[in-house]
Amino acid sequence: MTMDYLRLMKYPGAKTAMLPELTRIIGGSGCKVVVDVFGGSGLVSLNLHGVSVVYNDLDPELYNLFLQIKNNSSRLKRLLIQRMDELFHPGGKEILQNRSRNEIVRKALIQRASSGHSNKYETKSDPVLRAEETLFRFNVSFGGLGKTYSTDREKSPARYIEKTIAQYDMISARVHNWRLENLDFRSVVEKYDSSEVLFYLDPPYPGKEWYNFNFRDDDFRELKLLIDRVAGQYILNVDDNIPMITGIFGRPTFLRSYPSNNRNDGSRPEESKKKAFYMNFDDPVSSKDIKSKRPRRSY
Ligand SMILES: C[S@@+](CC[C@H](N)C(=O)[O-])C[C@H]1O[C@@H](n2cnc3c(N)ncnc32)[C@H](O)[C@@H]1O
Repeated sequence: MTMDYLRLMKYPGAKTAMLPELTRIIGGSGCKVVVDVFGGSGLVSLNLHGVSVVYNDLDPELYNLFLQIKNNSSRLKRLLIQRMDELFHPGGKEILQNRSRNEIVRKALIQRASSGHSNKYETKSDPVLRAEETLFRFNVSFGGLGKTYSTDREKSPARYIEKTIAQYDMISARVHNWRLENLDFRSVVEKYDSSEVLFYLDPPYPGKEWYNFNFRDDDFRELKLLIDRVAGQYILNVDDNIPMITGIFGRPTFLRSYPSNNRNDGSRPEESKKKAFYMNFDDPVSSKDIKSKRPRRSY
């Protein structure tokens, strides 16, 4: 993706490749409020303009992270910079090559994992320290819930954190205006439903246990019942070609292929992933595509 965008952290299933299309469709919908129902890393919310944002995720650690960015922004930034300094400049002015920096991060993480909860950053009672821990863990890990640590083959974890620090003030200015919720999707949709609202729906992947909170088939069925009766607009994206999903949601509004750079799912880097979109409002660009490229499969 060539566009310049804000991103807080790496996250499994973050919508990086789909971001230009999602922001274009959401921006063109005319809605005033966007509810990011399965907010995750907040990537989509962070890159929306001209709308009010409600960020929601059922995971309390993600909710806490955004709450601390909103309410204790400077302290969280200081902690992050302090952590980088402790790791990379222990003597005050060491300048290290990328390779040795990665190695330092990896060793620090492995050491912390093996020493249980003794590290001062895992002081769970302090929500700002917990937020810093979450941010650090996701940025330096590869895949899953921040529990697998990157190796030299992946991009530099140090560079990820440095990018977060560089973008931090812009991110914090956005988050400052958000409403934050820590609700199950059923409750947040019920709470905010109105004709001025657009729900962005990016649920967990069926059959994958990537998150602290994952989805069962019944959750997809209940999501379908919910979107069938909302007063607001919605756009839902899911992986294409999953019989359970098409059985519940039917024929998608449109399909798209994106290059897959997410090796969590076992794909090779050059492979592309097909995504199915469902929405209840017109998007001039994708409806033109649908007329010219109707999927041949019958659902
Ligand atoms: C595919 S991820 C969202 C990724 C996000 N769009 C991004 O770009 O970072 C799905 C998210 O749904 C959250 N989740 C799981 N079950 C939920 C539920 N019942 N209600 C609300 N959120 C839930 C997970 O914690 C996870 O962060």
